[in-house]
Amino acid sequence: MTAIYSRIIGTGSALPERVLTNADLEKFVDTSDEWIRTRTGIRQRHVAAEGQTTGDLALAAAERALAAAGVKASELDLIVLGTTTPDLVFPSTACLVQHRLGANGCAAFDVNAACSGFVYALGVADKFIRSGQSKKVLVIGAETLTRMVDWSERETCVLFGDGAGAVVLEPSGEPGIYATCLHADGGFKELLYNPVGVSAGFRDEPNHGVRIRMAGREVFKVAVKTLDALVGETLEAAGMHEADIDWLIPHQANLRIIEATAKRLNMSMDRVIVTVDQHANTSSGSVPLALDYAVRSGKVQRGQNLLLEAFGGGFTWASALLRY
Ligand code: UT7
Repeated sequence: MTAIYSRIIGTGSALPERVLTNADLEKFVDTSDEWIRTRTGIRQRHVAAEGQTTGDLALAAAERALAAAGVKASELDLIVLGTTTPDLVFPSTACLVQHRLGANGCAAFDVNAACSGFVYALGVADKFIRSGQSKKVLVIGAETLTRMVDWSERETCVLFGDGAGAVVLEPSGEPGIYATCLHADGGFKELLYNPVGVSAGFRDEPNHGVRIRMAGREVFKVAVKTLDALVGETLEAAGMHEADIDWLIPHQANLRIIEATAKRLNMSMDRVIVTVDQHANTSSGSVPLALDYAVRSGKVQRGQNLLLEAFGGGFTWASALLRY
């Protein structure tokens, strides 16, 4: 029997209009463009307008991905959306987007794997296609992370931005996604988390205590080590070698982490898609935003092999190796 692979047949992305540069940040928080650029590679980030939600960005990215794929929303039989900043507690943002697209009736759910959300969602969607359950799948990564940022906290507020990306998948006899690897270790919760929630309760603090807590230096070290092992595992799962990879499309948290992963793969930086300078860390949005940029700029071509990877709160880490 011919193997069923999931193939990406369209990509899309969306960013809020408002751009906040490092120079803008210098005006209200004790930081500098020089510090942000040299420590992270970030030059600017996009920030959602008041009232603009994760679902709004997800919808715009999804519409662009569907148009690129030539697929009507009514043809979708599954929507999986990675986010850690959903519009509402429930319904899921996937359900809200499904209705706004006019795809009512298909399965739709969110995946919360923090910054690994999109790659997790892609891994889940791939299994639905490989099992024969789904034929047209929309996978989205979307965030309004700046809603969880305390703009007086320089350790975190300079790092994050808002945005969304999406892909449409369909089954194919040709690759396609060769392998996905998904992992988590909840033992690292204290290094990267948001301390409040519906069940744990909120606090009598600004924004009800909703804010990102991160031990940056420790997260950095574990991220580099973990991604190093992850890319090796992914190549092995796909039966491939470093030289088979045309493009690395990494999670965009820190240019220094991206460079370390590229070095591990013996890849020069001109084969790595970098958008962290423009978008900062958009969590689940980061990999699909980078992928869509790579496709629309003409860098990534049909038939090339792409390695997608992400690392985030949980900790979670995940990868996908695919032929575009
Ligand atoms: O996407 C999910 C996963 N997240 C990540 O992968 C993030 C991983 N971590 C990182 O990217 C880096 O650790 C950071 C960018 C967060 C921090 O960079 P670092 O090189 O690890 O800096 P640091 O935390 O060790 O801080 C160095 C110094 C400190 O001052 P002292 O103690 O040396 O005097 C900080 O107070 O930099 C100071 N600092 C700042 N200075 C200016 C921290 N934030 C800022 C800032 N502007 N925004």
